[in-house]
Amino acid sequence: MGKLRVVLVSSEVAPFAKTGGLADVAGSLPLALESLGCEISVFLPYYRQVKDKDFGIKAAKKNMAVKSGNSDISFSLYVCKIKKVGFYFIEKDEYFDREFLYGTAKGDYPDNAVRFSFFTRAVLESIVALGLNPDVIHCNDWQSALVPFYMRHRLQDFGSINNARMLFTIHNMAYQGLFPKEIMPHIDIGDEFFTPETLEFYEKLSFMKSGIIYSDAVSTVSKGYAKEILTKEYGCGLDGMLAVRRDDLYGIVNGVNYSNWSPAADKFIKVNYDNKNLSGKIKCKKDLMSQLKIKSSADAPLLGVVSRLAEQKGIDIIVHSVPEIIKMGCSLVVLGLGDEKYHKLLIGLSKKYPKNIAVKIGFDNPLAHKIEAGCDMFLMPSRYEPCGLNQLYSLKYGTIPVVRATGGLDDTIIDYYSDRTNGNGFKFMRADTGDFLDGLKRAVSVYKNKKKWQQLILKAMKCDFSWENSAKEYIKLYKIMKSKNRRFS
Ligand code: ADP
Ligand code: GLC
Repeated sequence: MGKLRVVLVSSEVAPFAKTGGLADVAGSLPLALESLGCEISVFLPYYRQVKDKDFGIKAAKKNMAVKSGNSDISFSLYVCKIKKVGFYFIEKDEYFDREFLYGTAKGDYPDNAVRFSFFTRAVLESIVALGLNPDVIHCNDWQSALVPFYMRHRLQDFGSINNARMLFTIHNMAYQGLFPKEIMPHIDIGDEFFTPETLEFYEKLSFMKSGIIYSDAVSTVSKGYAKEILTKEYGCGLDGMLAVRRDDLYGIVNGVNYSNWSPAADKFIKVNYDNKNLSGKIKCKKDLMSQLKIKSSADAPLLGVVSRLAEQKGIDIIVHSVPEIIKMGCSLVVLGLGDEKYHKLLIGLSKKYPKNIAVKIGFDNPLAHKIEAGCDMFLMPSRYEPCGLNQLYSLKYGTIPVVRATGGLDDTIIDYYSDRTNGNGFKFMRADTGDFLDGLKRAVSVYKNKKKWQQLILKAMKCDFSWENSAKEYIKLYKIMKSKNRRFS
């Protein structure tokens, strides 16, 4: 059998463009698949952020066009290689030469439907033009969810790759790509697709429904979340639709690229360390404290948060817990970007408690690494969490996660109080201040026992979430898809 040919489509891919964990996954899963023998190409938009840096990207094809109604929308294709993986960039400055990827702190860009519908059609055009002939096209989240729709309904254009199976991976149910019906003629989708059986969702056009309905299989990024999204509480209105596809629904937990996220090799931290010699960790803590002007003693617990500042992440729970956090003798550093209301709340706290709370609003990858290395505990009181990568990074850095038992957090963190042998963190049940503070208090009481804390750190650092296992699960799934008839032929 020849190599399995996979095309992965994502609106963000690290190290090129990133707002959250999707980028980490789309940047590192392909490398793992490649080392397991797949032939893989990745597609993303050529954003301003990518153009501004020197990644050695070169022109691949000029004068490309997406047919839209009676007109053509031109674009160009660029490429760079990491190992043998081809990363392809769709260049259309009108849509992608902007300050941010999806919108500003005030809200989404108003033409996101047009931008990402164009992106998906340009990807399909490019796959045909490059002759990639994939076995599987693996789409991720709403931004690439229209690929299977256009594939199915635009056979005149994309018929030559019609044999490809479609996998749609949901990284977050809450972001569905919902737009007013009026957008349909502008993205080449006929009125006949505005029905509950197709793309209509409570009188809006839903990109995500295309991914769920027209793909051969649907997956999400942990087994726990795969179960949760079948419930009303977590299904965000699509639980019924997902239940119809239950037999084709898979949960595959994300992995970590330890070449980027490991204290032994991290190029952003003050001193490298590993589980044989932890002395660098306290140096990283002191360095972080001095950089962020935290004035507490280096013995006191330092808590870290690196997050998109969104409702999902339970930032309000942390904000309301701050007086107690201070009473417990802890200091807190927060790095985040997102909703303006959280920016204001967090900055307010840093002004009120300047010695103990440092807040950086912005996207800052080097600082994210320094927080992972320099803190004692990492807080994730998420309302829901499809997988979560930061708790996995934290484990590797010996920064003990304090997490809510939900989705991927529940799957990957074992509570120390429930299992002293295998425990690698602290879990609490409800997304409220009371439960969160109980979890944190339990963590702080173990922290005070230096020997036990040290053992816990070593246990955490030994956890292995490297991509290999998860990439093998994806390959298994791709093969299952290939062995079955296409959902629509
Ligand atoms: P999500 O994808 O929901 O945002 P994850 O935990 O899966 O959550 O992944 C978040 C990723 O984004 C991590 O790599 C984290 O370090 C990074 N990140 C989030 N916010 C920032 C920020 N403000 N600056 C730098 N990195 C960030
Ligand atoms: C999403 C989720 C996060 C997950 C990431 C990568 O943004 O919120 O839990 O880790 O995607 O799959």
